[in-house]
Amino acid sequence: MVSTRLPVLTIDGPAGAGKSTVARALADRLGFVYLDTGAIYRTVALAATRASVDWSDADAVAAIAHDIVQHGKLRFDRPPGGTQRVFLDGVDVSEAIRTPEVSSGASTVSAHAPVRAALLLLQRDIAAVGGVVMEGRDTGTVVFPDADIKFFMIASPEERARRRYEELKAKGMQVDMQATLDEIIERDRRDTQRATAPLRRADDAVDVETTGVPVADVIEFMARRIEQLPKR
Ligand code: DC
Repeated sequence: MVSTRLPVLTIDGPAGAGKSTVARALADRLGFVYLDTGAIYRTVALAATRASVDWSDADAVAAIAHDIVQHGKLRFDRPPGGTQRVFLDGVDVSEAIRTPEVSSGASTVSAHAPVRAALLLLQRDIAAVGGVVMEGRDTGTVVFPDADIKFFMIASPEERARRRYEELKAKGMQVDMQATLDEIIERDRRDTQRATAPLRRADDAVDVETTGVPVADVIEFMARRIEQLPKR
């Protein structure tokens, strides 16, 4: 049977590889929904902090994740071309989930299998209708292995740290280059070495090397690959 749903695109890769920038641009170009799965883990880490739950407590964090999903406490809002806003319990947490502390917390809570299980169906439900660009670490391998096209983005740790540093500085945050690089390396280690759904390239993914490549060229390369998808 030929599927009639619109395509699902997945973009995975390590922190700072440029996934969000290109995912947003491609979603706008295609008129697709943009799903930032990292924002979901970040929101759970933030909710844990606010509930005084230790990020390393897998069961307690999983209970928080279940509560968020079951009671529809997480909401994304993004006007076309605008920036995505994330709401937890109706409160805008878009900036609060982007601090280096929450980055580290998201990496820690996302290593727990029960936390990932609690968030899996939520992600699949959003993508099931199609017309979605999802980005994260396991969107092509675990969340949506039947995706129509999977990209895996790569860039050197130094380049990724430099981008993250510029991004945080532009937001007026106090940042240190070496600390940013150390944080990227530590997150890479945690994200690739965890037992459940580690960051890895799907066997059928298209590699996208972005070190030293202008973002516009990266987007063009990916858009051309998407154009080659069979028409429905
Ligand atoms: O993409 P990001 O930096 O916002 O993600 C924050 C953390 O969430 C990242 O360190 C690993 C985790 N994550 C994950 O485990 N699986 C995903 N699909 C997305 C993010």
